[in-house]
Amino acid sequence: LMLVIETKKELKDKLSAFFSNKKSLGLVPTMGALHSGHLSLIEKASKENDQVIVSIFVNPTQFNNQKDLEKYPKTLENDLKVIKKASDNIIVYTPSVAEIYQSNVTAEIYNFEGLDTVMEGEFRANHFNGVGTIVEEFLTSIAPNKAYFGEKDFQQLQIIRKLVQLKAIPVEIIGCPIVREESGLAMSSRNERLSAPMRKEAAFIYKILKEAKEMFGTKSALEVVEWVENEFKNNKYLALEYFKIADIDTLKSVNKKINNKKYRAFVAVFVDDIRLIDNIAL
Ligand code: PAJ
Repeated sequence: LMLVIETKKELKDKLSAFFSNKKSLGLVPTMGALHSGHLSLIEKASKENDQVIVSIFVNPTQFNNQKDLEKYPKTLENDLKVIKKASDNIIVYTPSVAEIYQSNVTAEIYNFEGLDTVMEGEFRANHFNGVGTIVEEFLTSIAPNKAYFGEKDFQQLQIIRKLVQLKAIPVEIIGCPIVREESGLAMSSRNERLSAPMRKEAAFIYKILKEAKEMFGTKSALEVVEWVENEFKNNKYLALEYFKIADIDTLKSVNKKINNKKYRAFVAVFVDDIRLIDNIAL
């Protein structure tokens, strides 16, 4: 049975009945326009919990640009079909903006200890305050045992881990691997906006990430960064915004490797006016 809930009150009623049964609850927060990447989170949550809640909410406070918010695909009807096909026992929570924010559509200001000011946050520090605000709202009002986030947005995942620590929210945050198209391109709702030839070209991003991973075994971070920047300079379809090799805990860029630290390479690329991000464990 799929249940669609639109209000906090109904959510509370349903959940209190549920918790009296002492069952485990898994939450998958999304902004809809669901694809196989989202589905992998829903499938993992379904395996690990008695009940799964998928939230579909296009969160206005995490958009730094009104146009971007307006352009965000809204495909609720289709999303519900996709969820129904994946599982017959899911609660879908689709509140309105007013239901969540009342008349005060603003983000809380967090201290994410610098995790939010690099890479995706460099030009839009308030983005992660918006993400934090909505994720905190869902984690506290739904109180799941586990919540699932994709490594596609690795910086977001680390910030949510920090949020849960800062606010002492009793939930286990589960990171899930990046789901890719056959070409290697990381799944994203934005891929739909790419023309067929550009979608092919965009496979270059993952190809370079894999080569960078290989090089990182023998070369310094600086050398790898220079090599990647040059590869993108020579590609006439893809414009590199940034390529960084960073410590996975601090998200600070590194030049020198330290043996017991873990690193990841992060990339943001423009294909025409479409911005794509990806990352890989090194
Ligand atoms: P959205 O972009 O809809 O993504 C929802 C979840 O799906 C995120 O955890 C994201 O990392 C994951 N995801 C997206 N593409 C993926 C892929 N190719 N492989 C694996 N996981 C993937 O991220 C958000 O929404 C919002 O910021 C949200 C957390 C819901 C807060 O509003």
